Amino acid sequence: MQEIIERLQRKRQAARQGGGQKRIDRHHAKGKLTARERIELLLDEGSFEEWDMFVEHRCTDFGMSDQNIPGDGVVTGYGTINGRLVFLFSQDFTVFGGSLSEAHAEKICKIMDQAMKVGVPVIGLNDSGGARIQEGVASLGGYAEVFQRNVLASGVIPQVSLIMGPCAGGAVYSPAMTDFIFMVEDTSYMFVTGPEVVKTVTHEEVTHEQLGGAKTHSTVSGVADRSFENDVEALLMLRRFIDFLPANNGEAAPQVRVDDPVARGEASLDTLVPDNPNKPYDMHELIHKIVDDGDFFELQPGYAKNILVGFARMQGSTVGIVANQPLVLAGCLDIDSSRKAARFVRFCDAFNIPIVTLVDVPGFMPGTAQEYGGIIKHGAKLLYAYAEATVPKVTVITRKAYGGAYDVMASKHLRGDVNLAWPSAEIAVMGPKGAVEIIFREDLADREKIAERTDEYREKFANPFIAGHRGYIDDVISPRSTRERVCRSLSMLRNKSLKNPWRKHGNIPL
Ligand code: HXC
Repeated sequence: MQEIIERLQRKRQAARQGGGQKRIDRHHAKGKLTARERIELLLDEGSFEEWDMFVEHRCTDFGMSDQNIPGDGVVTGYGTINGRLVFLFSQDFTVFGGSLSEAHAEKICKIMDQAMKVGVPVIGLNDSGGARIQEGVASLGGYAEVFQRNVLASGVIPQVSLIMGPCAGGAVYSPAMTDFIFMVEDTSYMFVTGPEVVKTVTHEEVTHEQLGGAKTHSTVSGVADRSFENDVEALLMLRRFIDFLPANNGEAAPQVRVDDPVARGEASLDTLVPDNPNKPYDMHELIHKIVDDGDFFELQPGYAKNILVGFARMQGSTVGIVANQPLVLAGCLDIDSSRKAARFVRFCDAFNIPIVTLVDVPGFMPGTAQEYGGIIKHGAKLLYAYAEATVPKVTVITRKAYGGAYDVMASKHLRGDVNLAWPSAEIAVMGPKGAVEIIFREDLADREKIAERTDEYREKFANPFIAGHRGYIDDVISPRSTRERVCRSLSMLRNKSLKNPWRKHGNIPL
């Protein structure tokens, strides 16, 4: 017995040592934490239960039979974050570069299967050189097993990927199918083909960082939802982030105790919208002033900045915020902003998170770049996502709600539950200037007449009352009361029940 216990301890020690002190030192020198250090920071102290510490690869080619490290390059198991259960895997770059063998994949699949059975999130801490080269096709099979589980878990349990090192080749597709991707600046990168292949095929010279670093994916491609300065910040922010999410699609997000009064009036909101309709203002201000304690966890803050999305709480319950941002491109909808918001709306809908939509949108972005890029299909994604969503939907129009974009942004017609407008709202087919230039084309030379007609149009249509007459908005509210009115609406909607007709699945315009 004593001998077995000693053997067990030796094995545990070997697993904890990963690829050995030298490799751990090299890893630390890059500013990275080890797979186990990461888990320690992410989970509540002492909560980690490790599984499969003794799993080893089964490869005998290329001298692999005498290179066995217990755990095989990935640490898996479960634990709690602020008391709530999560499953996770953390790839160990010090063991064969964190590369994925058949056994490594089986470990990941095991915790994914278990997370599905008990209905809790899966978190992946990715740091891997990709497929274990010595294993060949067995490794590719392993990836596909993970992909399949990612898809079956999609919309059932939240899946979050934190990229903390290399993630290249087909390996990127597992994170891509999870709900959120976070990256660490300077030490992580994701690409389908690396700089060398790019150079051979397209003759472009590009660094790892330019091609797939955290900055690239959080500002240019939109692949990453957030990037963080280092491992520690990323892991601590991930703890905060998980608090916003429900455990699975059958549960509500956790209710948090807050002391922020529902009826907290914000007089400064009465002057947020400038008198000049062409002057921008920062929609962040409205968000911060209406949500609990001003706490807004923004997603994709550096990408498609003309729309803002993220999580906040109102009366202690998680809400998804979608808001046009007049500061960037006047808040118009374009390809990137439509895709960004559509995916977010679908996440909220899948996971019972009410959506609060703040509208100031002059329409869709015109131009050949947009049309050739398929704005028709991409814009339709957001329309589809809102129309399909059955969670509570509360909309506040602060200023412009023009044209098709008015319809798209959680309008009454797309089953918006409560649609409110500020007195400054202008709900119309288009802005007064554009409208008059079309309707009164023959008078264009007569500036005075055009100015008169524009005023007339603004007076008649560019206000919230025409929509109010028809019941398209439920009330015109004072800006300072927005928090209270939205909170009350959400309380009223707490037991909302709405089902879409049965179907295998819809056909969102991908
Ligand atoms: C086996 C690997 C490995 C891999 C790295 N290592 N990648 N072992 N399979 N895929 C090992 C190295 O041999 C080395 O072992 C250790 O990990 C650290 O690697 P270094 O090269 O020293 O580290 P670094 O300089 O930081 O470079 C990291 C790297 C590089 C950029 C990831 O290792 C690399 O290019 N690796 C190969 C990447 C690759 O081509 N993967 C296959 C992609 S295709 P020692 O013993 O020296 O410590 C793919 C298909 C997936 O993934 C398909 C899914 C459908």
